[in-house]
Amino acid sequence: MNTLAKYVALLLLACMAAAKDIHVIVSSFKFEPDTIKADAGDVLEFHFKAANHSVVQGDFANPCQPSAGAFFSGFRPVTGPGIAPDAFRVTINDTKPLIFYCAQGKYCANGMAGIVNTPTDTLFVGYKAAAQAANRTGVAPAQVAGGVLAPDTLNVTTSTAITTSTAIVVSNSTFTTATSTATATVSVGVGTGSSSGANNVARELGVGAIIAAAVLGFVMMV
Ligand SMILES: *[C@@H]1O[C@H](CO)[C@@H](O)[C@H](O)[C@H]1NC(C)=O
Ligand SMILES: *[C@@H]1O[C@H](CO)[C@@H](O)[C@H](O)[C@H]1NC(C)=O
Ligand SMILES: *[C@@H]1O[C@H](CO)[C@@H](O)[C@H](O)[C@H]1NC(C)=O
Ligand SMILES: *[C@@H]1O[C@H](CO)[C@@H](O)[C@H](O)[C@H]1NC(C)=O
Ligand SMILES: *[C@@H]1O[C@H](CO)[C@@H](O)[C@H](O)[C@H]1NC(C)=O
Repeated sequence: MNTLAKYVALLLLACMAAAKDIHVIVSSFKFEPDTIKADAGDVLEFHFKAANHSVVQGDFANPCQPSAGAFFSGFRPVTGPGIAPDAFRVTINDTKPLIFYCAQGKYCANGMAGIVNTPTDTLFVGYKAAAQAANRTGVAPAQVAGGVLAPDTLNVTTSTAITTSTAIVVSNSTFTTATSTATATVSVGVGTGSSSGANNVARELGVGAIIAAAVLGFVMMV
């Protein structure tokens, strides 16, 4: 293989591996961002603020009730301004629309929900309207499922940090060079910035990581 071919092969490899973490802050009574665009392989990482929230994968046809095989974080109580000890990480496996809600009390009926890869704006609006009309207590699955609880390392310790910053950006790249494969991970924490803005940041960082991985591979081979 000539150098250019190696470079292109590495670039393709880097692109395939560039899954990203999408951070979602869970607080009273909202998910931020609540409208998310994700690729297969991306990970939604939920960070729980006070007081006692959860995230459950919902069923579009039955608001505030779990889907079949729903992911569920369990209730993650925390007192004070910080974030609960564990974050909940869910891998996105495809680009189908996915809805989620908080199962605490009537938070879901009051609009505490989020959507991934919605094809239309009206799908989310419709879900929340149906949830409000049904006005039922959110249903929680029996146990944590469909994701992984992991110690929360997002450095956001005060509510001020979240509500005043437009975007909390944590960038991280890990390159495994021993086997000539390159992986890049990108983390983006989100404050009150719009979800589309957050996703743009994620995409820009993702592209940056891909280029960095490709350049690293190129440098190693020449
Ligand atoms: C959190 O909420 C759940 C569901 O309402 C409840 O069972 C649990 O006791 C609460 N935990 C705390 C510490 O308040
Ligand atoms: C929902 O139910 C609660 C009682 O749990 C009631 O106070 C509230 O008015 C109801 N909301 C709507 C929109 O019907
Ligand atoms: C993706 O697949 C994994 C492994 O089967 C599963 O744990 C996870 O819940 C799935 N994600 C969604 C959003 O269903
Ligand atoms: C978290 O961020 C604050 C403010 O930027 C900094 O002072 C602190 O050292 C950081 N904590 C950790 C554990 O990195
Ligand atoms: C990036 O990730 C690696 C591996 O998870 C970790 O050891 C390192 O401390 C992280 N760097 C930053 C700046 O978060």
